[in-house]
Amino acid sequence: MARLKLAVLVSGRGSNLQALIDACEAPGYPAEIALVIANVADAFGLARAERSGLPTRVIDHKGFSDRDAFDAALTRSIEESGAQLVCLAGFMRLLTAGFCERWRDRLINIHPSLLPAFKGLHTHERVLEAGVRITGCTVHFVRPTMDEGPIIAQAAVPVGSSDNAETLAARVLEQEHRLYPLAVRLIAEGRVTVHGERADITGADAPRGSLISPP
Ligand code: GAR
Repeated sequence: MARLKLAVLVSGRGSNLQALIDACEAPGYPAEIALVIANVADAFGLARAERSGLPTRVIDHKGFSDRDAFDAALTRSIEESGAQLVCLAGFMRLLTAGFCERWRDRLINIHPSLLPAFKGLHTHERVLEAGVRITGCTVHFVRPTMDEGPIIAQAAVPVGSSDNAETLAARVLEQEHRLYPLAVRLIAEGRVTVHGERADITGADAPRGSLISPP
């Protein structure tokens, strides 16, 4: 079966891009990366893509008069690449409603919290401040409102009493690297259908049991 073609958008470090690169290099993985786009010329994600011989493109938002023009340039590049699914991987620009509509249900994001809790930036600091005992990460379809949209998959991470934002971010990031390739796989296998603001997954039910924190 043909592999699902991905465009991955990054702004920085690109460790989630790396997780997708590694997944796509594994035999039998049902997706491949057609293009990596960065909006920042020195994003380390670009170096990761080049190292793996993937096509890259820098589209610097500063070169555009407004968000519509920037997003139109993104769309042109993605269309040229033949990508069928757009994956935001630490892409730190808000996208216009027009872009979200153009790629509706074909545009996904990873966020370092259990959405709909803790949308936005400085997630781990706010998780610690709020004193929640379990946090995690979420892969979801993108809607125009930041960090909103049908949820595809989540991973839960217990918050320890000695955690700080850095230690928590590192443990959540480890799970992000497992979760993003899993979510892309489910989509590529045609097992994710979106009904309005809900995504349904076929053939992959939730595990039984629970995570209690503290135990
Ligand atoms: C990741 O933790 C990702 O969840 C987060 O940025 C980091 C990017 O790291 N994204 C957001 O906060 C989006 N709202 P990476 O560049 O190493 O993948």
